[in-house]
Amino acid sequence: MTQLYDRIRESARFIRSRAAARPSVGIVLGSGLGALAGKIARRTAIPYDRIPHFPVSTLRGLHAGNLIIGELSGRTVIAMEGRVHYYEGYSMEEVTFPVRVMKALGAKSLILTSAAGSMNPDLPKGSIVAITDHINLMGDNPLIGPNDERLGPRFPDMSEPYHRRYIGLLEKTALDLKIPLRRGILAAVAGPNLETAAEYRFLRAIGADLVGMSMVPEDIAAVHAGMKVLGISIVTDEGLPDCLEPADIREIVSIARRQSAVLSRLVIGVLGRI
Ligand code: HPA
Repeated sequence: MTQLYDRIRESARFIRSRAAARPSVGIVLGSGLGALAGKIARRTAIPYDRIPHFPVSTLRGLHAGNLIIGELSGRTVIAMEGRVHYYEGYSMEEVTFPVRVMKALGAKSLILTSAAGSMNPDLPKGSIVAITDHINLMGDNPLIGPNDERLGPRFPDMSEPYHRRYIGLLEKTALDLKIPLRRGILAAVAGPNLETAAEYRFLRAIGADLVGMSMVPEDIAAVHAGMKVLGISIVTDEGLPDCLEPADIREIVSIARRQSAVLSRLVIGVLGRI
């Protein structure tokens, strides 16, 4: 098998051969959060399955599976319309591969979006949350294994996993657009089952506001690569252990879809300030 570094370069070379634009910002759109993709102008869309070494989502219907390069808010962006997840059986290296390709193509900033469950009663369903920090409980890490110094350092610093200046810019944008925005700490679990009441209680007790099955591996790979990350989650279900109701995956997706337009306005607004 070719080395990770060479596979990244091969993917990047292929994408460059299809789209001349040089992206400065990468964007990952989570489940049901694809509305933003339609706003990208002068776009080139490349299905993931055409790109050498790219992982392809097994979640048909939920994730479109296109890489889109184009213009948004005066920036050249590279956006993923849907991601692959660890619970689908992909390795951490595969889950984070697209982020590393974005970096190889020139993206220095990364905007990650996701759906999440909330253990914090102050962050009810539909809340839009700026992620300030995370707790990785996935039991795995994309940086395990031999470290290639060309991708980043062996022991990357994690004191600022989500760029503070970007959080401030997002909050200013939200205020200007009159969009309610909260802050929260995200715990990442492998999934695919949602949490038991005892697990939600545990996650709250250790300091997490939200829980999700994505975002954190991509953040780790991006920080390792020296990218500045902005993380935004939409609360799609409430994990309140003393009144836990059965989760309905259709409701989770429909809440994400409903908030997708608001999230788009927020991302478009903050892009102009990054
Ligand atoms: N738990 C884990 N991941 C999630 C949830 C949840 O409650 N909601 C959306 N993604």
